[in-house]
Amino acid sequence: MGASLYEPINVYKPVAPDIGIVDGPFEYLTVGGVKLPLPFTTRMTVVRLSNGDLFLHSPIKFDQRLANGLLGLGTVRHLVSPNQFHYAHIGEWAKVFPDAISWASPRVRQRARARNVDVEFTRDLEANPLEEWRQEIDQTLFPGGYFKEFIFFHKASKTLILTDTIINLELDKITEPWRTATRLTGMYHPFGQIFFGMRLPLLLQRQKAQAAIRKIHSWQPRCILLSHGRCFDSDVEIVIDRIFGEAAPSIATKSSS
Ligand SMILES: [Fe+2]
Repeated sequence: MGASLYEPINVYKPVAPDIGIVDGPFEYLTVGGVKLPLPFTTRMTVVRLSNGDLFLHSPIKFDQRLANGLLGLGTVRHLVSPNQFHYAHIGEWAKVFPDAISWASPRVRQRARARNVDVEFTRDLEANPLEEWRQEIDQTLFPGGYFKEFIFFHKASKTLILTDTIINLELDKITEPWRTATRLTGMYHPFGQIFFGMRLPLLLQRQKAQAAIRKIHSWQPRCILLSHGRCFDSDVEIVIDRIFGEAAPSIATKSSS
């Protein structure tokens, strides 16, 4: 197969009260309509809001048993596409949960249309957190040109919810030649890094990048959930400093008080 999954898949795994992850089946990259023989894993994050609504970040392939399990947690309400690459299964969930709101990321509508993916987005994400989840979740738009994505922060558990901004693949879950290719990108555990496609756009959009990074530092995350690879649940402050650079002095002073 060329890779291994984060078993068990399609099962809600709690991370902290009101937040958990669901690891999904393999996905395949498609370029110009051609499916590449490179399986990769994806992961969805689920947040339970105080009114009982569920926020599904980057929904994985629909699975009825998983959906039944989620119904025990709350009402499937928000289907969130954080960037234009993570949206493919939102339509499947929306069909089963017609009262759910499908949230669009920048350019995702065009991408879905160009690829004939059956999904209808109800509303657009904004730079600031929406009223629907403002109490529990903060957010910001992380610049990265074509790869820009909305990043989220679950306040109660101090969990940063990322999609492709950081990739931290586990080499022992990948077989050759992909293992060597992954090693060359440097985006592997425990050295996970900003997705390489974002790095040049980040340099070109320095001010926006610095603003988003300041916001990440101000949140003081204790856990980082990722869509691809191993999540970070210890020494998170060190990981954030290593990947995004240390906080500006004023923020560092505030955090240490
Ligand atoms: Fe991705």
